Order: sequence, then C-alpha cells, then structure tokens
Amino acid sequence: MATRSFLFLLGSSRADGNTEALARLAAEQLPAGSRQRWLHLRDLPLPDFEDLRHADGGHPAPEGPAATLLEATLAATDVVIASPLYWYAVSTSTKRYLDHWSGWLEAPGIDFEQRMAGKTLWGVTALADDDPAVAEPLAGTLRASAQYLRMRWGGVLLGNGSKPGDVLSDSAAVSRAAAFFS
Ligand SMILES: Cc1cc2nc3c(=O)[nH]c(=O)nc-3n(C[C@H](O)[C@H](O)[C@H](O)COP(=O)(O)O)c2cc1C
Repeated sequence: MATRSFLFLLGSSRADGNTEALARLAAEQLPAGSRQRWLHLRDLPLPDFEDLRHADGGHPAPEGPAATLLEATLAATDVVIASPLYWYAVSTSTKRYLDHWSGWLEAPGIDFEQRMAGKTLWGVTALADDDPAVAEPLAGTLRASAQYLRMRWGGVLLGNGSKPGDVLSDSAAVSRAAAFFS
C-alpha cells in the first residue's frame, strides 16, 4: 500500500488545547510508515469566504495561506480536522477552511473534486459537555462533507475537557485515541 500522509488541521482558537492533545495522542499510533504534517489554522488565516461561484470570472487561484492549505490538503491521503466543539459545531477557522473548499472546487486548474475523492476524512474534537451526543452536528458536518466529495469517512474521536489538559484525564478518550487510526 502506498505511504499514507496525514494532514492534521488544528482549529482551536487557543494553543495547546484539549483537541490538539487528543489528536497528538491518536497520532502516536498512526499506521507504520505514515507521514504526518501539522498545521494550525490560526497560523494560516484565511480571508472571509466570498461566494464567487456564479460571478464573472469565478474563483481565482488561491494565494498566500489559502494556497498553503490547498497544497497541504491535496498532498494528504488523510485529512484530520481537529476542531474543538464550539456551539455544537466546528470552530470558525475550521468552518472557514471548509467554506474555502467551495472556491477550490470551482477555481480553474485544481481539479479539487477528483483529487479529494478517495482520501479519508477524520475528525477529532474536545467538548466540555458530558453528553457526547451534543457533538452530532460537528460529526454530521464532517461526515456529510466527506460523502459529498466522495471521500472515505474515518469517524470522529471525542474527548471531554474544559481547560487545557483536561482531556488527558478522560481515560475512555485516551483509550479510544490509541485505536483511532488503526
Ligand atoms: C466559543 C466556545 C464555544 C463552546 N461551545 C461548546 C459547546 O457547544 N459544547 C461543549 O460541550 N463545549 C463547548 N465549549 C467548550 C470547549 O469545547 C472545550 O473547552 C474544549 O476543551 C476546547 O477545546 P480546546 O482546548 O482544544 O480549545 C465551547 C468553548 C468556546 C470557547
């Protein structure tokens, strides 16, 4: 099997949070020989998405942070969205990244739709609520987005925590992390 290449996209609005901690635990058990790349969406701020799909000229080729994120996304076999649960959904930076997919689908010369098909999309999230069911909107967003782009769906790894480091005390989440990518 070809070498797998995991792109971890960190969508928290703080550094060293629970979502990243959980994702890093899971990444310790990546399949042998896998490559991994970690990008924090805070370091690559995307402009507000503007819907130019039906405008004259359409979407231009991405530049700056968008070009970096596009290149990283296309280079991965596995895209891991690591977003905290914010208001039952993905964080703003994560949602903006997903919105930009709509531009990349339309921009000339990228072939985004064909090149995303067959990759695997995964989710990792931390939430303060004790009821994991409240994360269903986030899981549904990612699952349906994967389906739309004919990607495989890897599932969502959930962990509980409020302040940074809390998730490491969620022993069930720590166990799930060890098995998540296997
Ligand atoms: C803007 C905002 C919205 C939040 N919304 C929710 C929520 O809807 N449900 C929940 O259980 N926790 C919510 N939380 C708590 C975070 O999900 C929790 O603190 C999580 O551990 C943060 O992840 P991080 O440490 O990776 O940033 C919210 C926190 C913030 C800052």
